[in-house]
Formats: sequence, structure tokens, C-alpha cells
Amino acid sequence: MVALNGRDLLSLADLSSTELQELLQLATQLKSQQLKLRCNKVLGLLFSKASTRTRVSFTVAMYQLGGQVIDLNPNVTQVSRGEPVQDTARVLDRYLDVLAIRTFAQQELETFASYAKIPVINALTDAEHPCQVLADLMTIQECFGNLSGLTLTYVGDGNNVANSLMLGCALAGMNVRIATPKGYEPDNEIVEQARAIANNKTEVLITHDPEIAAKGAAVLYTDVWASMGQEAEADDRFPIFQHYQISDQLLSFADREAIVLHCLPAHRGEEITEAVIEGPQSRVWDQAENRMHAQKALLASILGAE
Ligand code: CP
Ligand code: NVA
Repeated sequence: MVALNGRDLLSLADLSSTELQELLQLATQLKSQQLKLRCNKVLGLLFSKASTRTRVSFTVAMYQLGGQVIDLNPNVTQVSRGEPVQDTARVLDRYLDVLAIRTFAQQELETFASYAKIPVINALTDAEHPCQVLADLMTIQECFGNLSGLTLTYVGDGNNVANSLMLGCALAGMNVRIATPKGYEPDNEIVEQARAIANNKTEVLITHDPEIAAKGAAVLYTDVWASMGQEAEADDRFPIFQHYQISDQLLSFADREAIVLHCLPAHRGEEITEAVIEGPQSRVWDQAENRMHAQKALLASILGAE
């Protein structure tokens, strides 16, 4: 079993290709109940942004492993009253076995991890959403039987999900194409990081043309045009992103057997049409379910469950 004993997961790039592959294999074994693992540990959830899937899937995964969860809503802790991250981190370190954090700046997550000796998991920052992409890759593998050589096209905002998808696809030996409006491209440092991982063996393409990007793709993926924290920009973004919608028309450029993914929550009529998200090629509910299996595998591996 993949041994991530005590390690942090702050970025998907914290995993090697082999570790990623083994983690997905473990998640699949846990989902099929071919394997059952137990650990009597305590997970803290410190979320400064809203969450349905991540919060519930982490909680249920930990319960199913035999562990416990404490929901550390910042509004009911001293975090919202300005207790420094460094202090909160050193205190929580003394109580908990593992901590999942959802926040804004990646730097805050990194500061937390540097002060807490317990493993820290990125449950979404403005820069990355690695747990989401573990579930996405698991879903793609379930649909196609393998990952290597497949092409994933992401259409929309070059956000946290796009950043983690680039890293995840590169690690999995997949081609990744990101189509965004000008000025909304993914983080350039992460593009370069993904290209270094891909090492010219697979493609990491950034384009402004969604149709070229979608051509022949096995997976079409999108996410909201304005992420949490960007709500004030939503109205201005609307006209800019009009051509970056997954519709039946865009889907017709993809492979005939292509699947459609969305991390959810979705805005029907914006980044995806009702017909596509509810259509035969959509796999979004399996994708959401897989959050739980993938994070159970991650927790089990980090905590050394047996
Ligand atoms: N996809 C995802 O992370 O959903 P939540 O924001 O509901 O956790
Ligand atoms: N990019 C979105 C993902 C939500 C799961 C956000 O950060 O709001």
C-alpha cells in the first residue's frame, strides 16, 4: 500500500507519478470494498470558505475508517478573532492527528503546515484543489480503464481546479489542454511545473480557443467562471466567458466516447448547459462520489491505517 506516512498534501506536485497511481489504486480497492482499513485518529477541518462535498466526503471517509472529525469552523474558533496562524497551528498540532484546511492564500496553508508537525491537507486554496483532482483522475480511470495517453480539456477560468488538473494530468501521463479567455490563464509557475513533470512526453497546452482544445478530447471539464472570493467580479466576467461554455456544440468537437466532468457546484447556463450536465456523457455524480473514496485512500495512507 502507498505509504505517505505523516506527509502533507499541499499541492498535487507533492506526489510522485508512482504515488499518485498507487493512491488511485487504493481508492478503487476501498470503493469496491476489496480492502477495508481502520485507523483510530482525529481529523480537524478548518474551512474558511463554504463547502458541501469536501466537508462531507472527508467526514464520512474518516468515520468509515473508524476515526473522528472535528469541524473547526473559523467563526466559532479564535481564528476569526485574529489569532495568528502560527499559534493556531502549534496548538491544533497538540490535539489532532491530521488537519484539512480550506482557505484563500496558498501561503497561509504553507505557513500552517510549517508550524504544525501533523500532516496538513489542502482542501482548496486559491491556487490549488488537489483532493478534487484525485477524485477526477479516479473517475477518468474508472471510465477508460487507464489514464496514460488520454487528453483532458478544461474550458473556463484558469483557476485552482485548472492548476491542479495540469499537475495531475502531467503526473498521470495524460495530455492536458486549458482554454481560457485572455487574461484568465492558469498560474504560469504551475504551467511550467506541469511541463517539467510532463518532460515533453505529454502535452500541456494553454490556448484561448475552446474548439481547438476540445478536438478529439476524451474528457471535457469545466468549473465556475468566478470562484469563491471572486463573487464581486462575476457580472463583469459573464460576457468575457460566453464562449467558454461546455455545450452540445462544444462537446461535438470531442471524442465520440468523451465524458464530461465538473467539480461542482455548477452554474447551469453559464460554464455548462443543463443539457450537457444532465446528459448521457456527464459523469459528475460519480465524480462527486469519488471524492470520498479518494480522500479515504489519502487519509489511510497518510495516517498509516491497517
Ligand atoms: N468540489 C468541491 O470542492 O465542492 P465543495 O466546495 O462543495 O466542497
Ligand atoms: N474554483 C472553485 C471550485 C469550487 C469547488 C472555487 O474555488 O470556488
